[in-house]
Amino acid sequence: MNVLILGSGGREHTFAWKIAQSPLCNTLYVAPGNSGTQAIATNIPLKLNDFEAIKKTILDRGIDMLVVGPEDPLVNGIHDFVKNDPQLKSVAVIGPRKKAAQLEGSKEFAKAFMMRHNIPTAAYESFTANDLEKGFAFLETLKPPYVLKADGLAAGKGVLILENLATAKDELKQMLVGSKFGEASRKVVIEEFLDGIELSCFVLTDGTDYKILPYAKDYKRIGEGDTGLNTGGMGAVSPVPFADDTFLTKVENQIVKPTVAGLQKDNLPYKGFIFIGLIRVEDEPLVIEYNVRMGDPETEVVLPRLKNDLIELFKAVEDGTLNEIDIEIDERAVTTVMLVSGGYPESYEKGKEIKGLDQVKDSIVFHAGALVKNNVVCTSGGRVLAISSYGESHIEALKKSYHSIASIRFDNMYYRTDIGFDL
Ligand code: AMP
Ligand code: GLY
Repeated sequence: MNVLILGSGGREHTFAWKIAQSPLCNTLYVAPGNSGTQAIATNIPLKLNDFEAIKKTILDRGIDMLVVGPEDPLVNGIHDFVKNDPQLKSVAVIGPRKKAAQLEGSKEFAKAFMMRHNIPTAAYESFTANDLEKGFAFLETLKPPYVLKADGLAAGKGVLILENLATAKDELKQMLVGSKFGEASRKVVIEEFLDGIELSCFVLTDGTDYKILPYAKDYKRIGEGDTGLNTGGMGAVSPVPFADDTFLTKVENQIVKPTVAGLQKDNLPYKGFIFIGLIRVEDEPLVIEYNVRMGDPETEVVLPRLKNDLIELFKAVEDGTLNEIDIEIDERAVTTVMLVSGGYPESYEKGKEIKGLDQVKDSIVFHAGALVKNNVVCTSGGRVLAISSYGESHIEALKKSYHSIASIRFDNMYYRTDIGFDL
């Protein structure tokens, strides 16, 4: 079958790497892709929310399966667009319908879903500009730090955690009245702060049955020791050493099962990945957020541990036969370290030549913000490369990732030297 992956990051290169190994995949396309996908698939220049252009590509290239990497096209309804079009409707789409993608597209929708289905999460209330005063009053009932979340998609920047009540009130006003995050902060969810350790759970579902993929932990802050600004993710590890069997059984019973059952009860059609952001508080799991896609850079450690043929899994998702498949996991640890452009997550320069990629022997280099220009691989984004390695232990895998990094260079390259430091 011919497969089209939508997206251009490290996650999409990892999907492409995994799908290219499948004997079921005939021709693989990535739109728009990056220098990594260009080496193993055909890149097609496309805007992710230009559904007519996606339709044209599907028809021109005879695409049988569309794998959607990022949340944006899902929240905008790409799955419904394909299924509602008489010429496209037989194409398999990996990613939920628009209605179900609200789990990521609206924080309030996600919180209401969790409440309805008794899924453990932080206490909350949501507010609009009309009830700003009520929002202030609610903040006064909480203890610091204060958690404010723009309801809609805000490119990962819509969550504020504030120590001070006056600042929290001011930020709430800026979000609701000052349109700090535009349309996304027309509503704001105010949440109880949860103090614990975070991890990510990845579920693949056909809407009825589900498979839990390897757990992972990502490192979000730019600075060593988890300090400084939030990023998309500076590295990741899988498995997660502090998540023992007892804890993971709780995750499955208290969170994964009611989530999948809740989707069915609420008639939210879901064929794809659910990324559940979890926090462990006193040995109990709670949900921080849902995403309707895989994580990045978590994908770069999760898919290398999956032994199954990914296209076979995706076909089962499309056909509703996921229950017939057993998931096989590589017992080894996988770690990834992100190489980023100096200045990220604030302003940074692009177009720097990346050298030394051919010298990497012990790791898999997943390209993220990197493109081929004049036959040279150059930086094109903040997060540039993810260096993934296998090991009998996390330490061994991390050693390999850092050893490989030593041979890669570009101007102003930065990475955290302490990924996995807390394990
Ligand atoms: P989200 O976009 O909802 O994942 O939030 C971004 C980050 O903010 C999360 O990964 C957490 O580190 C943090 N966060 C979100 N909600 C809470 C909460 N209720 N308590 C503590 N930390 C939170
Ligand atoms: N690494 C977190 C995310 O993909 O949202």
